[in-house]
Parts: sequence; structure tokens; C-alpha cells
Amino acid sequence: MSELRFDGKVAIVTGAGNGLGKSYALLLGSRGAKVVVNDLGKSVTGDGGDGKNPADLVVDEIKKAGGEAVANYDSVEFGEKIVKTAVDAFGTVDIIVNNAGILRDVSFQKMKDIDWDLIMLVHLKGAYSVTRAAWNIMREKKYGRIINTGSSSGIFGSFGQSNYATAKLGLWGFTQSLAKEGEKRNIRCNCIAPIAGTRMTATVMPAEVIEALKPDYVAPFVAFLAHESVPDNGALYEVGAGYIARQRWQRSAGVQYNPAALTPEAIAAQWDKVGDFSTGATNPESNQEFMEVIMNNLEKQKEAAAKAAPVVASSGLKSEGIFSMMKSYLAQGHGKALVPKVAAVFGFEITKAKG
Ligand code: NAI
Repeated sequence: MSELRFDGKVAIVTGAGNGLGKSYALLLGSRGAKVVVNDLGKSVTGDGGDGKNPADLVVDEIKKAGGEAVANYDSVEFGEKIVKTAVDAFGTVDIIVNNAGILRDVSFQKMKDIDWDLIMLVHLKGAYSVTRAAWNIMREKKYGRIINTGSSSGIFGSFGQSNYATAKLGLWGFTQSLAKEGEKRNIRCNCIAPIAGTRMTATVMPAEVIEALKPDYVAPFVAFLAHESVPDNGALYEVGAGYIARQRWQRSAGVQYNPAALTPEAIAAQWDKVGDFSTGATNPESNQEFMEVIMNNLEKQKEAAAKAAPVVASSGLKSEGIFSMMKSYLAQGHGKALVPKVAAVFGFEITKAKG
């Protein structure tokens, strides 16, 4: 297979002074991309910094290897400044790797507002801000490749990381929405949950594990996702030590109760079936599918009820005529097609007593 290259493409990699971001920037730079190496130069918790910005060292390394790169030192919360650096230096933006990140690990019992807010600011607002600033450029040129950085903490939850897990799973929702909005304009957006030995994980991983989990073993996958030829859009992957797997949602077959007879006791009686994934489970990819399941089930219930009870007693209310018109309209043709589009349930309670 021919080498996947990035000649003529402009890439922004945030938090590219250290760890994973550095590895991405070096690889993209070595394959022809013009790289904006963004880094604030802060500690793992987002405090301090030692005065020297690591982004400069990464830019030097890319240039020494014959590539093109510029540094940017703004925080990702000011995405327009980072995108301006790209446009001023290279004229456009084609690729964004939203990678910058910090940790503020603390049990929820001890969490302070600052721990929560800083995590949301860097991970969520940061990814939003950089992407938003580049979005219209990408829309106009009908080209964009965006990679967001989630985490297994977000997928599964993690003790002491309720702030971080929330932000990281949020990035997955962000990814899926941008994938849908960008699809027609050839903007593809995917999300990774990486694992790598970096300063972020150095305190919790033994040395030999750090060695086995080099950021360089993640970077080729990010380059693959950043390439023009990437087939997927809106996907989530786990990646580390050369292992790559896709994650997806799964829905149990579920139980359709009779909504009119739904009680907590009725739910309890079939609870095991609600959580049973052994038969009939599906892997939904859109929220419309949920509505479709409900509408199909209700349709089946209606058919069964019609068979079981051929004569329905009249309520004697004047509104009955209107509801029976609505019912037959929604049961066929245009009305039937409308139901999944509206994707909502409206309840009307009309009684004689209330007038
Ligand atoms: P790292 O700490 O080595 O690198 C993160 C970089 O982001 C640092 O250079 C830091 O200065 C920069 N940064 C922090 N706040 C910034 C801001 N506001 N604006 C610009 N730059 C900023 O961390 P690592 O491990 O390379 O992590 C990269 C990404 O991968 C993060 O989003 C992290 O949450 C995520 N991740 C890492 C995992 C791992 O195993 N290392 C696991 C799961 C997710």
C-alpha cells in the first residue's frame, strides 16, 4: 500500500508539547503536514509550568526532520487564536486533533468547583472552541478531519474522576453530532479513548507498563483517522500499545409493557428481561431507532388489542371524534411517515369532570 501522506494539509494538534500530542505532531509533520503545535506548557493539573514551552521543542524537532511547523501557546479555551495561527502561517486548517488535557482527580466527596470547572474548560470548552473556530473554514472548503480525545474513564466511569469521566464521555456525544453535521461537507469526526504511558499516567503505571504503552504506538492510528481516506465518521475507538478496537452501544431487546397498566410492580415482575442481552439485543446508531422500536411495539399492541376487543365502548365525549380522526390519519400514508419524524409522544387528558 502506498504511504498515507499529508502533503499540503494543515494540522492543528492541541496539547502537542508532551505525551500523545507530541507524538501525533511529529508523525503528521514527518508525512508532509504543516503542523500547528499548540501547548500551554502547564503541569498535569493545569497549574504552573516551568517557563519553557515544550511546543517550541516539538516545532524544532519537526523542522530538523525537514517538516514545517509553528508553535502556538494559547489555551485551547481560546480556539480562535489557535486557528488564527494556522491561517496566518499556512492559510487554512484541514485537520484538528483535540488532544490537550489535564487531570484534577479527587473523590466526588472532596471535589471543589474549581476541579469540576477546569476539567470542563480544558476538555469540553477547549475542543468546542478550537473546532468551532475552524468549522466554517472546513465547511466552505468541504474538507475536514477531526479527532477528539475521549477516555475509557468516560466510557465506563472511574473512581475519583467524575469530572474527567463526564467531560470525556461528553466528547463522544460531541463527536457523533459533528459527524452528522459535517457529513455532507466531507468533514469526518472520530473519537479515540487512548492509553499511553505519559506524564499524565506516570504516577499510576509501573515503569515497564509505561514502556509498553508508548505514545508512538497510538500515533499511527491518529494519522489514519486524520487522513483523507479515513472510511469512518462518528466512531469511537480504544487504542493503545498497537491494539485498536471499536466501541459501540448495545440495547437489550427490552420489554414492552402495556403503558396504560404500567406500575412499579409490573416493571419489577419482568426486570430480568429488561436487562437481558442474551437474545434480541441490537446495536443502535441513531436516536430515531428508539422511536421506531416504540412505534412498532405500540402498533403490535394495538393490533393485538383490536383482535382481543372488537367493540370499544364510547366515552361519550365530544372530543372522541377528533381523536379518532387523528388516529386514522396517523395510522396510514403521510400520517404514518410523520410519526418517526416527530419522534415525540403527546398526551391529552380530557375528562368530563374537568370540562
Ligand atoms: P500529557 O499531560 O502528557 O499532555 C497533555 C498536554 O496538554 C500537555 O503538554 C499540556 O501542557 C497540554 N495542555 C493542558 N492544558 C492545556 C490547555 N488549556 N491548552 C493547551 N494545551 C494544554 O497527557 P497525555 O497523556 O499525552 O494526554 C493527551 C490526551 O489524551 C488528554 O486529553 C488525555 O486526557 C487523554 N488520555 C490520555 C490517556 C493516557 O493513558 N495517557 C488515557 C485516556 C485519555
